[in-house]
Amino acid sequence: MASRERWGSRLGFIMAAAGSAVGLGNLWKFPYITYDNDGGAFVLVYLACVAVVGLPIMVAEIIMGRRSERDLVGAFQVLKPGSPLWRVVGWMGVFTGFVILSYYSVVAGWTLEYTMRSAVGFFDGMGGEEIASSFGAFLVDPYRQVWWHAVFMVLTLGVVIGGIHRGIERWTKILMPILAGLVVLMMCYSLAVGDTARALTFLFSVGSGISGHGVLEALGHAFFTLSVGMGVMVTYGSYLAKDQDIGKVALTVTVMDTVIALVACLMLYPIIFAYDVPIQESIGIIFTTLPFVFQQMPFGSVMAPLFFLLVSFAALSSTISLLEVVVTYVVDEWGLERPRGAATAAAFIFLFGIPSALCFGAWSWLSEVTLLWKGEQDLNWFDSFDYLATNWLLPLGGLSIALFAGWAMTEADRKSEFETGEDTRRVFDYLFWRFAIRYVSPVAVFVVLLYKIGLVG
Ligand code: TRP
Repeated sequence: MASRERWGSRLGFIMAAAGSAVGLGNLWKFPYITYDNDGGAFVLVYLACVAVVGLPIMVAEIIMGRRSERDLVGAFQVLKPGSPLWRVVGWMGVFTGFVILSYYSVVAGWTLEYTMRSAVGFFDGMGGEEIASSFGAFLVDPYRQVWWHAVFMVLTLGVVIGGIHRGIERWTKILMPILAGLVVLMMCYSLAVGDTARALTFLFSVGSGISGHGVLEALGHAFFTLSVGMGVMVTYGSYLAKDQDIGKVALTVTVMDTVIALVACLMLYPIIFAYDVPIQESIGIIFTTLPFVFQQMPFGSVMAPLFFLLVSFAALSSTISLLEVVVTYVVDEWGLERPRGAATAAAFIFLFGIPSALCFGAWSWLSEVTLLWKGEQDLNWFDSFDYLATNWLLPLGGLSIALFAGWAMTEADRKSEFETGEDTRRVFDYLFWRFAIRYVSPVAVFVVLLYKIGLVG
């Protein structure tokens, strides 16, 4: 049997996994859903979900991947042959990747437009209102929406065709640290000139309370931001060398991801509050607040395009992980060649994303359609699929993965992945993780889902 391609180094894996985790979820989505959920309690619940649910499931995924050396569907089969039920969970993961990528790529495209706009001085002399309304106009511009969505899918495809080591790893290793540095720099600026006290209160004082929907959203976002619940970490783990300490790797990725999400909020909110930046569409917070910030900031005209460019790289290192799940599946399970499989997958995902690109403007009638299956809130096509994937598919996938790793896998398979290398602390790690994945994570997800469908609470 040919041996499987491997990450070049431990740093390579960490950077690729962190590259998958850190993305628009941290820089775009977390700040805006925190706004929608009134901060405070929501942030706290989110942090708890990351620690108690997200981290153990990330470990579970990496274990499944490295043990089986397969994609999610294959991993279930190898580790528990002959049980068709798990296959369905595997397919659900691939489907989730498909859905998420379809709308994620649209927003990723926005970051390219904003890189261009800030590079050519589009925002020069504009006030907060004007910047906000120019974002509104961009949202309803059908050509730009579809164009950037297409460009982003092509970029993603290009990297994925290049393969694991030469494609994904090489780039994330360089770009992630630059992004982190820049975000921290901007946070410092924002804390210095903005309304820091109010931002801190907004983000960390739990007086705001949280709705049932908010809890589900916090849980869903914990999955989304860590890229768990659909097999990304299974897929990436399948290329991880055997002597790496999984617990340590997963913890590093989780901490980096969480820190960047909080830093992103601390970069935005002090300014939003200090200048009363108008927020018409919370979905556009980074696209309306930041151009405004850059105008005031020293070296803003250089920082702005650089920043949006790096955000698009962060998005790219996430989209490649989403596409990679679908591609590893069609390569491992259907026997397609990588380039052909990747191109086919990308084409279908692009098509499926077109309504997400157009639902803000040209195809706003789509909202009527999606309302039919979503009664509860007024969500357009884009939001509906985000809602479906984040709040239902990822938690369900995560729950299944937890049950599988905690109960269905053999003890020997589970344990052996902790026994590589010689660190004795790993015995403790193992017992700790085993408890979390068997009891804590599944119960937490289960309760939230029951609560959401109205059976408890
Ligand atoms: N975690 C990424 C972000 O926060 C998005 C992402 C990439 C993702 N791969 C994923 C989300 C897999 C869920 C599942 O932007």
